[in-house]
Formats: sequence, C-alpha cells, structure tokens
Amino acid sequence: MFGETRIFGGVSKGAYRKYAGNIRRSHTKFDKNTGQLHKKHTSPLYNIHTAVIGIRYYMERRSFFMIKSEILFLKQEDVIEAGLFDTELVMRSAEETLIKWAKGEIVNTTKVGIHLGENHPQFWVAMPAYVGGDHPIAGFKWAAESHENKQHPEWNLPVGIDITILSDATTALPVCILDAGLITAFRTAASGTLGAKYLAKKTAKTATLCGAGIVGRFFIRCILHSLPNIKHLEVFDLDQKKCQALVDEFKDIGTDVEIVAVPDIGASVRQADIFFGATTTKVPYLKADWCKDDATIIHMGPCEAPPEFLKSCHTMIVDNWEVGHLSESKYLT
Ligand SMILES: NC(=O)c1ccc[n+]([C@@H]2O[C@H](COP(=O)([O-])OP(=O)(O)OC[C@H]3O[C@@H](n4cnc5c(N)ncnc54)[C@H](O)[C@@H]3O)[C@@H](O)[C@H]2O)c1
Repeated sequence: MFGETRIFGGVSKGAYRKYAGNIRRSHTKFDKNTGQLHKKHTSPLYNIHTAVIGIRYYMERRSFFMIKSEILFLKQEDVIEAGLFDTELVMRSAEETLIKWAKGEIVNTTKVGIHLGENHPQFWVAMPAYVGGDHPIAGFKWAAESHENKQHPEWNLPVGIDITILSDATTALPVCILDAGLITAFRTAASGTLGAKYLAKKTAKTATLCGAGIVGRFFIRCILHSLPNIKHLEVFDLDQKKCQALVDEFKDIGTDVEIVAVPDIGASVRQADIFFGATTTKVPYLKADWCKDDATIIHMGPCEAPPEFLKSCHTMIVDNWEVGHLSESKYLT
C-alpha cells in the first residue's frame, strides 16, 4: 500500500550512467577520410576528471531535486477497511466539515471541468479544497462520470468514478491517493441528510427517496441513523426491480422504520414531509404542485427539479453558493 516516489526529476542510476557515457562518447574522434570513429587515448587523469564531474552532477541534482516522499495508495477495499461504512463516523465527519466551512477554515475554490458537449456522456471535474483546523490538509477530487457505463452492465462500473489526491498542508508533499467513489456517494447522502436534520420541520415523519442507486443506498443508511422521527420512507426508481432489491436489503436490519418501494413518484411526493432526490435524470421530473407547502426538498442530483421550481421555493440553501449555484445550464451543479 505504501509506494515510494521520487518527484521533480530525481536522477536514477540509469540516467547517471547515460550522462557519464555521453562524456566518454564526446572523447571519440570521427575520421572524415576513413569514415571511422577512433577512441581518443584516455589517461587516468581523464577518468578521474569524468568521475568528478559525474559525481558533482549527481550530488547537485540530489540536493536540489531529490525529494523522497511516501504516498499512501488506498484502493476501494482499503477505504472500506479504514471505516467507510461506519455511518456514525461519516455523519460526524460531514457535520464537522460543514462547521469548519462555516468558521471559514475551509478554502473551497471553484470547480474546473472538462465537458465535451450536451450529447457526450462523460465529464471530468477537478474539485480543489484546503481543510484547516487541527489536521490541515489540501487536495482535490478528480470527479468523473460516464453515463455510458450504464449502457454496458457487463463492464460492471458505476456512473461516478472518483479519485482524491491529498497533499501535506505544511510541506505540500503528496501524502495520499485514494479511491473516492464510495466516499463521494456516502458524503453526498450524509450532507443531504444533515440538511434535512437541521432544516426540515421537527414534526417530519414521512419521506420519499427518488433514486435507488449508490447515493440512494447511502441515503437510507443516513436517514435511519440521523432522522429518528422519520417512520415511513418510500423509495422510487424508474428501475422498479432495482428499487425493490434496495428496499429488500434493509428488511432484516431491525428498524422500526417502514421502508417501501413505490410505483408512483407523484403520489409518493404528495405524502412526504421530506423529499430526497438522488437520480441521474437529465430531464427534471419533480413538480411543485406535488409538494406539501412545508416540505423540505433535498436536491442532490443535478436536475431533479426544473429551475422555475427551485426559484419558486420559499427558501433555498446551498452549502457553497459559488460552487453550487444555478449554473449556465440552469441546474444546480
Ligand atoms: N450533489 C452532490 O454532491 C453529488 C455527489 C455525487 C453524486 N451526485 C449525483 O447523485 C446522482 C446519483 O448518483 P449515483 O451515483 O447514485 O447514480 P446511480 O447511477 O448509482 O443511481 C441513479 C439512479 O437514478 C435512477 N433514475 C434515473 N432517472 C430517474 C428518474 N427520472 N426517476 C427515478 N429514478 C431515476 C436510475 O435508475 C438509478 O437507479 C447523480 O446525478 C450524481 O451526479 C451528486
């Protein structure tokens, strides 16, 4: 798991040999008349001279550029082993991060992305951040999505493919490169659930979750953990089989929350005090007249609701307006 890296062009033995070899080669002579290369006589002094230049070159490069750093590489299974499925830990981390953000301890600059156009099913976005406090760290997530993955179940790949690179906040050395797919999904659900915990009415008892994908699965965990007043949770997905399978996963966990797969999203939203949207839809489906007047809408996919709907809400709250504003595409980013 620990890899060792030489960065900024440290000189390998091979490079040194090549360098020394070049010096030797420069002491051959080309005979124009015969077209042959003649080795010049190499005196012991010449050999010492070559060695001194080589060693000096090697030492200089070493003192200026040789930085030995250890980078921790965490694959998905390592991330899980480190405690990813600990809902309490994830909820606490998500909450602490929002508190740090409110205290101004986090620098979260604008995303930079590669979008290849409307009809292109892939995109890549760099999301840099500095997190201060007791254990400061800087890094960025390279968040990518390929909707083509859905068309090829045989690839067995999710839509969202993410990695994170973390750098030491003091030395700026890279410290960790880790798989960020599941972290992203869990964090998304955790922060949406925190939104519901602090912003929804305290008497909220019923909820609807639209989207039975990876984020949806983590949403159920977070809702069960942090919203004890929710006693009835309806789950909808265009893929009804997948939806039922997700609900079935939570059958035997010993909760008093009734979790059911439902066939009609409109009817479900009408009864919901809190709505959680975590779909990959490209066409907004949520209608304002489905929602109770005092419902809380947790909007995690980019286009669960049309822009007019979002603008008509009594209050709209985002964690970071610069990053999560209604972008040129008119949807939440
Ligand atoms: N806000 C954030 O910070 C954040 C972070 C990560 C992912 N996301 C978004 O969350 C969404 C879900 O991601 P995921 O990884 O769970 O995807 P996923 O592919 O695992 O699941 C998406 C589910 O949505 C369903 N779906 C699509 N259109 C639907 C519709 N109109 N009605 C009902 N169900 C529909 C699909 O059938 C699928 O089961 C994505 O849009 C992703 O971009 C947001």
